[in-house]
Amino acid sequence: MSDNLRRLGSSDLLVSPIGLGCLQFSRGRGISGAMWPKLDQKEINTIIETSIKTGVNWFDTAELYGWGESERALGQAIRDLNVSGDKIVIATKWWPLFRTASSISTTIDLRLSALNVDVIDLYQIHNAFSFSSIGSEMREMARLVDQGKIKYVGVSNFSAKAMRKAHKELANYGLKLVSNQINYSLLRRDIEQNGILDTAKELGISLIAYSPLGRGLLTGKFHDNPELMSKRHIFRRYYASLNKSKIEKSSHVVGVLKVIALKYQVTPSQIALNWVINAQGDTVVAVPGATKAGHAEDNAAAMKFELSQDEIAFLNEVSSSF
Ligand SMILES: NC(=O)c1ccc[n+]([C@@H]2O[C@H](COP(=O)([O-])OP(=O)(O)OC[C@H]3O[C@@H](n4cnc5c(N)ncnc54)[C@H](OP(=O)(O)O)[C@@H]3O)[C@@H](O)[C@H]2O)c1
Repeated sequence: MSDNLRRLGSSDLLVSPIGLGCLQFSRGRGISGAMWPKLDQKEINTIIETSIKTGVNWFDTAELYGWGESERALGQAIRDLNVSGDKIVIATKWWPLFRTASSISTTIDLRLSALNVDVIDLYQIHNAFSFSSIGSEMREMARLVDQGKIKYVGVSNFSAKAMRKAHKELANYGLKLVSNQINYSLLRRDIEQNGILDTAKELGISLIAYSPLGRGLLTGKFHDNPELMSKRHIFRRYYASLNKSKIEKSSHVVGVLKVIALKYQVTPSQIALNWVINAQGDTVVAVPGATKAGHAEDNAAAMKFELSQDEIAFLNEVSSSF
């Protein structure tokens, strides 16, 4: 296995510790579309091309992101850039709210055509809220594996108990749960206490950290220039807690990121991401989002060094209230 690739759970998917989150490609549609600038296909292609050139080999999207817009943008980029399917890993998610598990099978062909692929590498249940049970959802997911429409099953925003249940249900079909995608960063560390991290380690499930930059706060740019917050859409400000009190509360952590960044001659974002992908051994990989190619390049470079155990311990200490 190449040095910097990690196995996702017990699967044969090998991913770079940093992937690319594609929520930002919602292209103006839906609530997620309102949060970000409406990127055109050329800009999206450049972000994806930059990611690939700088060592990222996987992309995380969802049906929910612009109701298919993000999946379509990703599919189009792969076509435009002529990227071979076996060089990258694609993860997307089924949206469970106000639906039953039967819609997993009735909507899968839409997902495949939006992404312009024959098979989805990792198909995730977006969260645990649905009219159907986890058992029915896993039965439907297993059916898709059997049909060759998806390779592996993941979940997202599942508690330790729900994760364990999904894992057990999949075992009835000879399958294993590969991943749980959760909010994890220096500003959101509850998985270390609520059993999710321990359960993942025990069952050999990877955790995919979403919002690993604290939805932009850990870049330090909103601390350096608070005016920037007013330039973001109100939904985005709400989503990312871009407000004075959060800036104050997180300023110590961001200050420490800046000091360590100076030592490595990197950016605070890279220190924040390096902590996410190294503080828990190989269990956690991350999918930062980007609205500019420069973000993607900066974030991928977080894979080029490794914080010392002392630095990780210090970051744990200064972020312990989160
Ligand atoms: N499973 C779930 O329920 C769930 C929920 C949320 C997100 N996600 C996934 O996780 C991904 C990332 O999460 P996220 O977008 O919430 O948070 P994030 O990755 O912590 O923050 C992304 C934002 O930070 C800023 N940024 C990123 N890299 C930067 C850099 N190097 N320098 C300066 N600014 C930078 C950008 O803000 P500006 O665009 O404002 O400049 C960017 O939009 C999403 O794309 C999505 O795939 C999953």
